[in-house]
Amino acid sequence: MCGIVAYVGHREACPIIIKGLKRLEYRGYDSAGIALMNGDLNVYKKKGKVADLEAFISDKDVHGNIGMGHTRWATHGEPNDVNAHPHYSSSRNIAIIHNGIIENYAALKTLLISKGHTFQSETDSEVFINLIEDIRINNNCTLVEAVRLALHEVVGAYAIVVLSKDDPNQLVAARKGSPLVLGIGKGEYFLASDATPIIEYTNEVVYLKDYELAVIKDGELDIRSKEDIKQTPYIQHLELTLDSIEKGGYEHFMLKEIFEQPRSIMDSMRGRMIVESNHLMMGGIREFENKFANAERILIVACGTSWHAGLVAEYLIEDFARIPVEVEYASEFRYRNPIVRERDIVIAISQSGETADTLAAIELAKSKGATIFGICNVVGSSIARATDAGAYTHAGPEIGVASTKAFTAQVTVLTLISMIIGSKRGTLETSKLHQLMAELENIPAKVEQALALDEQIKRIAAQYQDATNFIYLGRGYNYPVALEGALKLKEISYIHAEGYPAAEMKHGPIALIDEQMPVVVIATKDSSYEKIVSNIQEVRARKGKVIAVVTEGDTTIPTMADHVIEVPETSEHLAPLLSVIPLQLLSYHIAVMRGCNVDQPRNLAKSVTVE
Ligand code: F6R
Repeated sequence: MCGIVAYVGHREACPIIIKGLKRLEYRGYDSAGIALMNGDLNVYKKKGKVADLEAFISDKDVHGNIGMGHTRWATHGEPNDVNAHPHYSSSRNIAIIHNGIIENYAALKTLLISKGHTFQSETDSEVFINLIEDIRINNNCTLVEAVRLALHEVVGAYAIVVLSKDDPNQLVAARKGSPLVLGIGKGEYFLASDATPIIEYTNEVVYLKDYELAVIKDGELDIRSKEDIKQTPYIQHLELTLDSIEKGGYEHFMLKEIFEQPRSIMDSMRGRMIVESNHLMMGGIREFENKFANAERILIVACGTSWHAGLVAEYLIEDFARIPVEVEYASEFRYRNPIVRERDIVIAISQSGETADTLAAIELAKSKGATIFGICNVVGSSIARATDAGAYTHAGPEIGVASTKAFTAQVTVLTLISMIIGSKRGTLETSKLHQLMAELENIPAKVEQALALDEQIKRIAAQYQDATNFIYLGRGYNYPVALEGALKLKEISYIHAEGYPAAEMKHGPIALIDEQMPVVVIATKDSSYEKIVSNIQEVRARKGKVIAVVTEGDTTIPTMADHVIEVPETSEHLAPLLSVIPLQLLSYHIAVMRGCNVDQPRNLAKSVTVE
């Protein structure tokens, strides 16, 4: 959680930092602050959005060529002006911005108080900066040395930047567990939680590694390990474009990202299959193909929407490759004592590549000898680097907090992987493979058709915007879609919604159904079609309002549903890629009609880097 930006160079730092914070606001948005060096070390901070900070500093002197800023998602201490970052040390000589959690902050704080340090906020970050100050005074050392020694004392996760009055031309940064990207311009440097605040100025970046310390002073960059050994930076050239991180005429990022899906699905399969020759290739999986094919079991670890994509993959892999699959919430997996064997393959799925629970699950599985395969969207992210091999989803930056195009990109990549393993193991017949590949190739155009239903879905949304509860039902491949539809609705509209496998309804949830209950049923033509038609009847018998997502041309369900949304016909294995589209649009429109901030829903952040 939290986004950080820093700048040093020949330009005014403040506008670069404010713009950068706006790009990072998806990471946290309960308060924001900025520190600028202009003769003195000035800190301005405010509860609320970056726009509130911007208004607050409009009459302040914010000149200076070096500075740093922070947008917060509260962990320690409620969102208010005092707990906002940056934080000064007791002497106000140095200041810090921090993304992460210092787990031993309470013990450190008690010790520092006994030594005379005073604290204004409830945050762990203020403890960090006082620790640095304490070390600096006691050892009579440089700021860089004090930061380095402090890294040995703190337990937890951090990406930090520190500024000091005594070294007005210097930025000191370090990371462990939380992301930090360094941008290298011409005579200027940028630091940020991801590359989006940087690419407007430079495409040359260095992803700092855990326990690395970067010092930028007088135009020179020096990267050291925690043990003070000089490191050679690996400079990467990013392909990210400015267009891809802006709204491009849409009212919200979420809507833009929903409408980008024909392209993002296409990009996720691009170069990975040639239908005519029945050829599938995925660089990341090539050297692991045998391992995958011989796996005793595949474990999938993920959270939230990525976990839903994992559930789709369970059906796909078991269907095509006949390897047993278990899908685990990373947050549960990491804290129990799971059985993981050397011949297991663990697939970790994460859009951000920074989710703390997923990272910890990977480390646990690694320690037990399993091979870890990552599916991430963010290039160079922590999960992408922590895994043995992997495949990127190529969905492009997802800024809206509610995940949409990342889900369909993940399902696309997982479909390709399942087909690769299935054909390698000989469990997926060549003719079936060919059919599936041809159908997958058609999916972007069919998603386009599903997106054309936007106006119809908006009209349905208008009728249900005041509902207090929703149920989503699906079977087979559409069961994870029901879960995903319910998650989308609750996270952005704050309407209580539950997703269930349709047949489970009679084991309890059916008791909830009355004339007030909208029930979204995903009932596309597949092997359980007849069964789900019966489930719709059960809902109707209890006067529930049925909103059905059906296959184009269906003549049965329209006779029993209150609303019917038709998606193009496709193979049942690929159905989630189409049936999820109306559900994304439904939740989007309901949330907008309720006046909710769809891109930055309350209490949420895009990248969950805390446990
Ligand atoms: C829901 C959503 C979250 C994420 C979850 C995992 O719309 O965005 O549920 O899917 O926090 O995040 P990643 O995929 O970044 O690991």
